[in-house]
Amino acid sequence: MKPELKRLPVHVAIVPDGNGRWAEKRGLPRLKGHQSGVKNMRTIIEYLNDYGVKYVTLYGFSTENWARPMEEISGLFRILKERIDKDVPKLHRKGIRVKHLGRLGELPQWLQDSVNRAVELTRNNSGMVLGLAFNYGGHIEIVDAIRRIVAEGIPPEKIDEKLVSDHLYTAGLPDVDLLIRTADEVRLSNFLIWQTAYSEYHFTKVLWPDFAKSDIDQALLAYSQRERRFGALL
Ligand code: IPE
Ligand code: MG
Repeated sequence: MKPELKRLPVHVAIVPDGNGRWAEKRGLPRLKGHQSGVKNMRTIIEYLNDYGVKYVTLYGFSTENWARPMEEISGLFRILKERIDKDVPKLHRKGIRVKHLGRLGELPQWLQDSVNRAVELTRNNSGMVLGLAFNYGGHIEIVDAIRRIVAEGIPPEKIDEKLVSDHLYTAGLPDVDLLIRTADEVRLSNFLIWQTAYSEYHFTKVLWPDFAKSDIDQALLAYSQRERRFGALL
């Protein structure tokens, strides 16, 4: 049962961590953990959508994840593609719009095609915006924004916070209100570093494939009870 909440975050960002440990605990190959974890994404997205959360961003693959063994990377890409192809049409029926965040062009062509199809299919939806951070890095995002600002010939005095925000991959999305990270890791790991300047953080020991609706209830309840001051004295 959903708890009664005083306040709901507009933008929830999630770092789904612990797929590997979940598999290792069961004596399974790491890719089984990714399979189970990536499958869990739709459940959690739909539940947040039921709550009325307007923006959800998921960290699917970071620019640092390239340092993993190639076998794990290509397995993970295959799993991501399968789930996009299967699950996005279902999310589409709920009016969810998919947006990609990151350097898409560096991913294999077949994964790019799959992401582009998802974006295209859901382009005109007016429901929740789902940000898929695939090949995303917070530093690279700022580098790419600076490159575009310079390429557009924008004079220095015209550069302000809004202009920078509008050149990030997340252009059009509000800043993150609540960031959730699973699997007992207390780090941001280069995720949405600009957009989380005033976010509330929720860390849990639960491994991502086990992360359930009740864990969302807990995170949203904890968020609703916090006092946000944004640096002011209230
Ligand atoms: C998170 O699970 C998934 C991705 C980073 C793509 P991990 O693969 O990081 O799982 P652990 O941290 O090794 O348990
Ligand atoms: Mg990890």
